[in-house]
Amino acid sequence: MQGTAIAQPNIALIKYWGKRDIERNLPAVGSISITLRELFTRMRVEFDEALDGDVLVVNDEPDQAMLPRLSACLDRVAGMDRPRAHITSHCNFPIAAGLASSASSFAALTVAGAAAAGKSIGVDRLASLAGGASGSAARSLLGGFVELSNTAQDIEVRSLCAAEDWPLSVVVAITETGPKPVGSTEAMEISRKTSPFFGRWVEQQVRDLDAARAAVAERDFVSLAAVAEHNCLKMHSVMWASRPPMVYWNAATMRCLQTVRGLQDDGVDVFFTIDAGPQVKAVCTPRYAGDVAAALRETPGVIDVMTSGLGDGARLEPDL
Ligand code: PMV
Repeated sequence: MQGTAIAQPNIALIKYWGKRDIERNLPAVGSISITLRELFTRMRVEFDEALDGDVLVVNDEPDQAMLPRLSACLDRVAGMDRPRAHITSHCNFPIAAGLASSASSFAALTVAGAAAAGKSIGVDRLASLAGGASGSAARSLLGGFVELSNTAQDIEVRSLCAAEDWPLSVVVAITETGPKPVGSTEAMEISRKTSPFFGRWVEQQVRDLDAARAAVAERDFVSLAAVAEHNCLKMHSVMWASRPPMVYWNAATMRCLQTVRGLQDDGVDVFFTIDAGPQVKAVCTPRYAGDVAAALRETPGVIDVMTSGLGDGARLEPDL
């Protein structure tokens, strides 16, 4: 009646922004991400017939805010008639600040919940269940470079390249630790309804996915950098042109971009990407990880810097 799983957040290089089906939480566009290694969420689910309601404890504190979404996801994994559960989560990085904590949380929850329910569920179904709760979570089921395709009826995830086959590093510059002002579901809907660029964003995604897939297949860092930066800035342009505008950046975010440009000018293999938050993720080849981390750490407004390699997909852990 219990299961523990660990999952890593993933960072999209070709972004998911916008939904085509709100009810089923299906994305309007496909996406390509990298799964991280050093950042993690460990989630334990224990069903208990004696409980009246689910109980969630995140990093040793009771958490009511996330509970309804986790409970609903667990209902889909284990069935509506499941016993109530103690859900315990540990996350070693800031939550809800644009660092994909929901991705690792829901990926870990589906794997732990299935084990606790004694169900053997394949990766495709787990991805669909995790993606139903948080679109990007489906990608954390797999490791390395992962493509989420937007098929007619559902989503599908597949690995494009294992973590060890192209071992890149990601340096995350934290510029703010509080939760983001507008959650991604609401923000995506505002973009879909009001941004004059939304239609073009969806139309052009196939082209960016093709370019990124080819760059990964050829381990072509320069081409991957070009399409990933373009895709990131295009997503933020969609957000900025929405009404009301959604600007997740702060002054330090912009300074980090300048730091990355400076490194590029010095011949460093690095590029940036930014999600629905003010943090900057600099992707580089491992030999430059130390230089990139040092340069970002010195950038005014950067609170902290975390470095990660690429890691594996969500998996069960022995119960401790
Ligand atoms: O999975 P969600 O609903 O939190 O949306 C994630 C959206 C972005 O992080 C901005 C892009 C992405 O593909 O991860």
